[in-house]
Amino acid sequence: MRNLRGVILAGGLGKRLLPLTKITNKHLLPVYDKPMIYYPLTLLVRAGIKDILIVTGGNHAGEFLRLLGNGHEFGLSHIHYAYQEGEGGIAEALGLAQHFAKNSRIAVVLGDNILENGIKEYVDRFRRQKSGARVLLKEVDDPERFGVATLKGRKILAIEEKPKTPKSRYAVTGVYMYDEKVFEIIKSLKPSGRGEFEITDVNNAYIRKNELEFDVLKGWWTDSGTYDSLLRANQLVAEKVKKGSSNG
Ligand code: DAU
Repeated sequence: MRNLRGVILAGGLGKRLLPLTKITNKHLLPVYDKPMIYYPLTLLVRAGIKDILIVTGGNHAGEFLRLLGNGHEFGLSHIHYAYQEGEGGIAEALGLAQHFAKNSRIAVVLGDNILENGIKEYVDRFRRQKSGARVLLKEVDDPERFGVATLKGRKILAIEEKPKTPKSRYAVTGVYMYDEKVFEIIKSLKPSGRGEFEITDVNNAYIRKNELEFDVLKGWWTDSGTYDSLLRANQLVAEKVKKGSSNG
């Protein structure tokens, strides 16, 4: 099966969590018994991805090296790192992965996303996909906080970023899989109203090419970038750990 490289986006300044993020990076904060960054890293490793780049930024980037080193604890022989200056958006951070990706396809996870179960089945489906991109959706009660997909059968018609009146309850989670075209798409983007290069614009570019596939996630999923979602992430992980489930 096709080789895939992994990218974790852990840049940005985590302003929505101030003052928790005043003296550290958001992705180093605890989620129950582990630092946040452990979760996306474990997710990729368990999906069989061994070449991993972490894009980080801000004033505490060096701490990732101290915490993770070469990734031996995760069964890796090395971890790649890149530095994002400022917080120009998720797509800008992903653009920094171009050298690392070479001509491979990539699986991308946002550093503050936490999932109940593994993603191997979806990643394997993407490995078999002829071309294009693949996203994971999840039905949520507060879609206005996310990218929201409008579906028609097996097709995504459009994705809207944080719409005031969402057209569905399907949030686009922070797990994205892209073919080699993603970096050309990123270069063609313009900043959004909030001054960021948006990952939703990348996904909409694949929709226009008729090349965006999706799966609906089975277990729970949460981000952890706000006070409430960080609390929820802690509670969900604690329950899972206490139940002793270590679902791939
Ligand atoms: O969690 C899923 C959601 O993530 C998606 O549904 C949205 O479409 C997507 O835009 C994103 O929304 P957020 O507003 O929650 O993203 P946030 O700014 O919190 O960034 C999420 C992660 O992305 C963050 O933990 C680190 C990374 N990031 C973000 C920015 C703005 C970067 O690496 N660099 C950045 O400049």
